[in-house]
Amino acid sequence: MKGIWKYNEYWSTADDMTQLTMGEGNTPLLRSDRISKKYNIPNLYFKLETSNPTGSYKDRYAASAISHLMLNKSKLCLATSSGNTGAALAAYCARANMPCYIVVVDGAPAGKLNQMRLYGAETLMVKGFGKDEEISKNTFDELKAFALSMNSQVQISAYAYSPEGMQGVESIAFEIAEELPEDNVKVFSPSGGGGLTLAVGRGFLKWKEKNKEYSLPALHCVQPEGNNTIAGPLKEKLRTATAISKSVTKVSGLQVPNIIDGNQTIELCNALHGDGHLVTDEEIFKIQGELARLEGIYCEPAGAVALAGAIRARSEGLIKGDQHIVCLITGHGFKDETSIDRMVEKGNPFFENIEKVKNYILHK
Ligand SMILES: Cc1ncc(COP(=O)(O)O)c(C=O)c1O
Repeated sequence: MKGIWKYNEYWSTADDMTQLTMGEGNTPLLRSDRISKKYNIPNLYFKLETSNPTGSYKDRYAASAISHLMLNKSKLCLATSSGNTGAALAAYCARANMPCYIVVVDGAPAGKLNQMRLYGAETLMVKGFGKDEEISKNTFDELKAFALSMNSQVQISAYAYSPEGMQGVESIAFEIAEELPEDNVKVFSPSGGGGLTLAVGRGFLKWKEKNKEYSLPALHCVQPEGNNTIAGPLKEKLRTATAISKSVTKVSGLQVPNIIDGNQTIELCNALHGDGHLVTDEEIFKIQGELARLEGIYCEPAGAVALAGAIRARSEGLIKGDQHIVCLITGHGFKDETSIDRMVEKGNPFFENIEKVKNYILHK
């Protein structure tokens, strides 16, 4: 079992590392059927990052990040997280027998916090973190300095803080390139701070360096309107990301009001002929429900953002029928049960016996 280390030729230090893995990566690229027909996007694919060991693409990050901490003889992992990075780091730390402390965003979903704690990590919530720009930036910077003083390196899933961990995320692009080598591919990626989109773009560039005949896909960044730091500026052809004083989206994972990897993300999406797309929380929740009902895919709201963006782009005439559209479905529905509660009817009918059940179904 190699996990992301299948691509270890892309790591300069791979031979010196433990190459910690839980079989992350190698996720399905599933062709859409019903959503494809409903929204008239003939060649639509979902990259199912939900099938990673802890339920999100962050396992690719954690495998690389903790292997690097071990290489550098760090004795503990200090991280910030909206939930998924924390769960992934906590799991990989459990395997590496490394203590793990996670500063979590104010209001992170209970499902994500429980997951971190079950793996044995300590979760520490800071008021306003993830909501307020100044508090968020200060928390990142303080923890970065604190980690250094403890002979460790802060784990924040962004190139600005942990480029070694982000290298693992680039494997998403390698897998897409391997499985869909066609011309005319457009990849839609959800963005909070921008690290994920940047990693996917950098992965495609690295792949192209080794595989000269490969046609680079267009890379599109999608954000909820309530956290418009990258997608809006990209759409408006601005060169830099814009911080917002408060993030008002309810989509967990994408509440990042400050600028982290945003400027580089804009630069790379431009270089890869992509665009920015904004979607409302309501559109996201609707698509999250449709992914479950029409395709059998159970994802958290952030996992539905890329598809919501692609559907918007199609309705605006920005996607042509012969293009191959790949949407990253980044995190599992089990992560955020409250987002599911909103969408399903409460309870179920209760029958006195099985005969009454049969009668009920016959009259449906
Ligand atoms: C499920 C999910 N999707 C997407 C993202 C976006 O990542 P980034 O902040 O790197 O843009 C995150 C980040 O936490 C996430 O948890």
